[in-house]
Amino acid sequence: MSNTIIKEIDYDRLPKHVAIIMDGNGRWARKRLLPRKAGHKAGVERVKEIVETVGDLGIKYLTLYAFSTENWKRSNDEVSSLMKLLVYYLRNEIKTLHSNQVKIKVIGELSKLPSTPKQEILDAINLTKNNDKLILNIALNYGGRQDIIRAAKLFAKDVNDGKLKINQLDEETFNNYLYTSDNPDPDLLIRPSGELRISNFLLYQIAYTEFWFSNIYWPDFSKKHLYQAIIDFQQRDRRYGGIKDDK
Ligand code: FPP
Repeated sequence: MSNTIIKEIDYDRLPKHVAIIMDGNGRWARKRLLPRKAGHKAGVERVKEIVETVGDLGIKYLTLYAFSTENWKRSNDEVSSLMKLLVYYLRNEIKTLHSNQVKIKVIGELSKLPSTPKQEILDAINLTKNNDKLILNIALNYGGRQDIIRAAKLFAKDVNDGKLKINQLDEETFNNYLYTSDNPDPDLLIRPSGELRISNFLLYQIAYTEFWFSNIYWPDFSKKHLYQAIIDFQQRDRRYGGIKDDK
């Protein structure tokens, strides 16, 4: 890591919430004539490094897209190796995460997960529930459309139960029904691997998020790339649909 890069980060203007689509594991493996699961395994090493770096920087929210509602379409072998890697990650890292004050949360429909990863994640959530240095959202069986539909159903139920009236629904109220209700919207969304799409991730929450794309595959994504993404983010002019005062 070169010191020049570290110096360029403005520590007073860090993103509060970073979201990452960890893409390119399969292609990384294919390039090395390895099975796809070897790419996912290498990807877990990057998860460790990036969670640590985000925590060290003092960024409060990190959301990682680990398994989408569409990923069930993959072979049983690949789905099962992803579930095993999640268990492996939690078993190996939970002590460190807990001592670093990381609070683990899940966004997505946890109930459909096999019992071992489900129990492991529930235990991790329970153990870390009072931590508040870094909120680590793991998106598991998550889909942005599913998040919105679920929120609409929960709101409709509250209306049915007489807790709210339809005309009380506004952006802020709707946000309260999303999985990410306790979090600010992501400031920065990172997608490595060269794909330029959102893939059903945080659709409601990214209205004014800054995107950072790179051709690097996730297993090659290091601290250096995270710093670069943050530096680039800090050069952006975020206007939220308004105009600058001097224009
Ligand atoms: C996308 O790459 C990656 C995934 C679907 C899984 C990401 C999961 C991990 C990195 C490991 C488990 C996560 C945690 C939080 C411990 P791809 O397989 O679609 O790659 P490709 O587009 O090159 O085929």
